[in-house]
Amino acid sequence: MKILVLLFLCLFKMSFGEILPIPPLLEEKDGVFNLKVIEGEYEFFDGTEESTLGYNGNILGQTIRVKKGDMVEIHVNNSLKEDTTVHWHGLRVIGIMDGGPHQVIKPGTTWKVRFPIEQEAATLWYHPHLLHKTGIQVYKGLAGLFIIDDERSDSLNLPKNYGVDDIPLIIQDKRFDSQMKLEYLTRNEDIINGMLGNVGIINGVVDPTFKPQLGVTRFRILNGANARTFNLAFSDNRSFYQIATDGGFLEKPIRRKSLLLAPGERAEILVDFKSLNEKVELRDGDYSLLTLIPKDEESKVEKVPKMLNQKVKLPDTSKMKKRYFVMQGSGRTVNINGKQMDMDRIDEYVKLNEPEIWVVTNASHHMGRDMMMGGGMSSMMGNIPHPFHIHNTQFRILNRNGRPPYKWERGYKDTVLVDPGETVELLVEFRHAGLFMYHCHILEHEDMGMMGQFNVSK
Ligand code: C2O
Ligand code: CU
Ligand code: CU
Repeated sequence: MKILVLLFLCLFKMSFGEILPIPPLLEEKDGVFNLKVIEGEYEFFDGTEESTLGYNGNILGQTIRVKKGDMVEIHVNNSLKEDTTVHWHGLRVIGIMDGGPHQVIKPGTTWKVRFPIEQEAATLWYHPHLLHKTGIQVYKGLAGLFIIDDERSDSLNLPKNYGVDDIPLIIQDKRFDSQMKLEYLTRNEDIINGMLGNVGIINGVVDPTFKPQLGVTRFRILNGANARTFNLAFSDNRSFYQIATDGGFLEKPIRRKSLLLAPGERAEILVDFKSLNEKVELRDGDYSLLTLIPKDEESKVEKVPKMLNQKVKLPDTSKMKKRYFVMQGSGRTVNINGKQMDMDRIDEYVKLNEPEIWVVTNASHHMGRDMMMGGGMSSMMGNIPHPFHIHNTQFRILNRNGRPPYKWERGYKDTVLVDPGETVELLVEFRHAGLFMYHCHILEHEDMGMMGQFNVSK
């Protein structure tokens, strides 16, 4: 009976859905952004209260919005009974401000950072980065957006009314048991591919509904899942334009019908809803994540701009230093270059302001993506794509297995999905000194040691 009721509740939520909540903008007080890491209580399904984690709220975080050129000050107070850290994913800042595993915030203490924003407009994010505990802390709710504006983003004719036609989508998945209680698995065989959920969650809500204006809407999409790569598309197969990658605008909008987004990656897209007469779903494969229902209101932006950003001019890379990273192993043995993360070992020493090429290989055997989805044999063998992330930089993808990168990944990136058997070459440059991480952004892989440290200095 109970299960039936829960099932009903579940169906109820699934078929009607709540209105998509928009993470509120965090207001500065006396020039300071205050984040408080708190324990929350939250219901993903009616009547099933979960203990969650959030920044200034029960789940997720408020959106921090800054401008290029700003000096930003953030105070993070940890009110939990456990350690945490806050990492600014995608931001170029010095090592001690990066919020990696070395910048532990003890319970009851406040971590204060102050840094200038020196990079172009982009949708970044923040999340904990505690050694071996990143997965569970993000899973319980810790993740927020960090948006940078600049003159270009202000002057482009793009939807920019936050929460109205400029919509953040934090896409995640979580696993619920038959009682609809949240589960986090830890047995090796259950998390070989990382912690995969069975329910999609957007901005903290199961299958929400959003009513876009009948014009062009911009979505800033973050894959904030622990492990799942989403292949996003609309149920009516409508096309859309990708306008930005992890670290900024593309040169021009790229027309697409689907968007593969790995954990840690972001993309901004423009979707024209002028022709929306009935509901349409944003899906991952057959799975509906978000339901869009037309609204009786035009939006101001009618057209998609032709140009977005300066032409990308890559320097001559032929004489640059190359550094090699091989991701291998499976389950508890995942590693990079045969080594697992050690806080006391620095794996690479890199020179400040000297561009170089990072050659990143996923050494598991190649198998088609379809074979991967079911898990089973291929994943047991460790044949899974790994999203490789580097701190303190926005890089360019130079090639994939020697071939030019896809058109939609020619903007700045900080996370790149590397398929089994694939090698990507990345043009990286570090403008800030200190100690930083590179790792797989499947958080259970990171927690199991698929991470290394590099030091940047003159
Ligand atoms: Cu988004 Cu080192 O992480
Ligand atoms: Cu990062
Ligand atoms: Cu991985």
